[in-house]
Amino acid sequence: MALKKTILITGGAGFIGSHLVRLMVNKYPHYHIINLDKLTYAGNLENLKDVEDKSNYTFVKGDITQAEQMQQLFEQYGFDGVIHLAAESHVDRSIANPMSFIETNIVGTVVLLNAARHHWKDAEGKRFYHISTDEVYGSLGDTGYFTEETPYDPRSPYSASKASSDHLVRAYYHTYGLPVVVSNCSNNYGPYQFPEKLLPLMINNIRHNKPLPVYGDGQYTRDWLWVGDHAAAIDLIYHQGRTGETYNIGGNNEWKNIDLIHQLCDIMDELLGRPAGASRQLITFVKDRPGHDRRYAIDASKLKHELNWEPAVQAADGLRRTAQWYLENTAWLERVTSGAYQQYYEEMYASEQ
Ligand code: NAD
Ligand code: TYD
Repeated sequence: MALKKTILITGGAGFIGSHLVRLMVNKYPHYHIINLDKLTYAGNLENLKDVEDKSNYTFVKGDITQAEQMQQLFEQYGFDGVIHLAAESHVDRSIANPMSFIETNIVGTVVLLNAARHHWKDAEGKRFYHISTDEVYGSLGDTGYFTEETPYDPRSPYSASKASSDHLVRAYYHTYGLPVVVSNCSNNYGPYQFPEKLLPLMINNIRHNKPLPVYGDGQYTRDWLWVGDHAAAIDLIYHQGRTGETYNIGGNNEWKNIDLIHQLCDIMDELLGRPAGASRQLITFVKDRPGHDRRYAIDASKLKHELNWEPAVQAADGLRRTAQWYLENTAWLERVTSGAYQQYYEEMYASEQ
């Protein structure tokens, strides 16, 4: 008989979290999935409309920095596992306001670690899985890859806060024997990503014939991974990863920003029925991001060899699917970019003029 489990997923209303919640709720009907989310600007319950009525799914609005709330939640549900994604996740915002990153990403993680530690008297069958980023490793030159042994060298307040939380998670393993596992993933893309991140921002601006702000010389490189492939890797690592270990997750799919944007512009021209080259005309080089990491690239061979994981979605297909999804979900785009976000975005670019 399938084992029943109650699993806490934090940040499940966000981009990656919503894909993971959907996967877990549908794939494991005998699990009870509790999605805890503060619903910041980046969290949106509309992302989970198709699972909200499932009997094995519960949404709880809450803040991971609130220790009493988190202790109560552990008391109430007696979680077998935690998959922790809740975070402030955007580098540019961390440059403008580092403190909320310290609070949520560092303090919030420690609050959850404490709740798990106090509640789990016995590590048997328990797991605290911390979701992190490749940005903790810093910046690469033209060659080489981040491995699990690469020393941490974070450069932005976002990556420094994630690095700090990774260290704390591992410290709870070594110090208190908390059964943890950590993964560090490259840039994700796909449906439901908040349109402040590169690809949905560009898609939305192309729709509105607005300038496409390319930071610096546009020669920065990222390794792009389809979000569904990340969710599948998380499922695998949660169930089969070794306790105390770290796994790198990446798409083996490096793009220079400007090349990726060119490719996207061409797909958008086709989908919108615009003349070839029209969207490329919107490209505008703007002031660089301070401390901008030049290149990220992941060596995911540990995950491949140990758990037989490989990305399933190819870049050309993924990019087209992404563009199509945003064009088919313009109501979602309009809603999440209205109000406070619009003001933030305009102020950001106003300060650059
Ligand atoms: P996101 O910004 O889309 O979602 C974050 C979610 O966390 C939101 O739903 C938000 O409401 C929630 N949240 C924020 N503060 C909270 C708090 N104090 N209490 C409870 N909930 C809170 O982020 P994402 O892109 O889905 O990233 C999820 C995780 O994956 C993060 O930990 C991020 O560091 C990591 N990650 C992201 C990427 C990427 O490319 N997006 C890559 C590697 C790792
Ligand atoms: P982003 O999506 O913010 O992810 P991260 O900084 O976590 O890698 O940015 C991806 C890349 O695109 C990064 O090199 C910064 C660049 N970028 C732009 O050139 N213009 C933009 O408007 C944004 C948001 C990002």
